[in-house]
Amino acid sequence: MRSPVPTDPTDGTDPTELSGSAEKLVRGRHATRAFRPDPVPADTMRAIFSLAGAAPSNSNAQPWQVEVVSGAARERLADALQTAHAEKRTSVDFPYSEGMYAHVHQERRAAFGAELYGALGIDPDDRAARAAYDAQSLRFYGAPHVAFLFVNGDGGARLAADVGAYLQTLLLAMAAYGVDSCPQGLLSFYADTVRGELGVSGGKLLVGVSFGYGDEAAPVNRVTARRAALEATTAFHG
Ligand SMILES: Cc1cc2nc3c(=O)[nH]c(=O)nc-3n(C[C@H](O)[C@H](O)[C@H](O)COP(=O)(O)O)c2cc1C
Repeated sequence: MRSPVPTDPTDGTDPTELSGSAEKLVRGRHATRAFRPDPVPADTMRAIFSLAGAAPSNSNAQPWQVEVVSGAARERLADALQTAHAEKRTSVDFPYSEGMYAHVHQERRAAFGAELYGALGIDPDDRAARAAYDAQSLRFYGAPHVAFLFVNGDGGARLAADVGAYLQTLLLAMAAYGVDSCPQGLLSFYADTVRGELGVSGGKLLVGVSFGYGDEAAPVNRVTARRAALEATTAFHG
């Protein structure tokens, strides 16, 4: 885990051991986009996914199905995803369109894209180079493991929100156990390929999470995604 970026000072509050740990954990987690091949030990993996299962959900329904892929199955899946990509066989369970973003979201996305592609040495306007990077990222940025989060039930917005809560709990659980991660929405564009390779029949694929141990030397892992000011997103009433 990289060191936390102190963007939100807690001036005026009395820090406790727990709040200090939470500040470190939440602000210290970042998306990792270059991994070493070393696997995560099986007992660490069980501890992480057990902790993630403590995520909250509407009426405690826990509408997530999690498929964790490693070893030879991971290799086969990466190959299948790259083949699907080359053959333009995309399939999404949750529709996507650029139009879903408000103008302010687009500005934040562009600022983040400039940071990311700058670190990669890619011109953000170079569509071909960006497409090549996306194709390569279907190999999970070199991570030895990937977890796929499926939404069960009707797969509607409320159940997807529960799986979103699971996602963040999982990312924090990984960070707490010293494991780096990258949620990859891109993987959800190949839902049928993932289902076919893993023999999964039900559920809607929300996101994949690549995980392992980050390559500290990779410049892409030093990218910082800045956050909007508190006032831009949050109002306090009363
Ligand atoms: C649902 C979801 C999907 C994402 N999809 C991708 C993706 O496809 N590729 C990628 O490199 N990062 C992806 N990310 C990572 C975001 O770019 C990252 O979380 C954001 O820029 C904030 O940076 P940070 O996680 O380092 O704080 C995704 C994150 C989330 C929560």
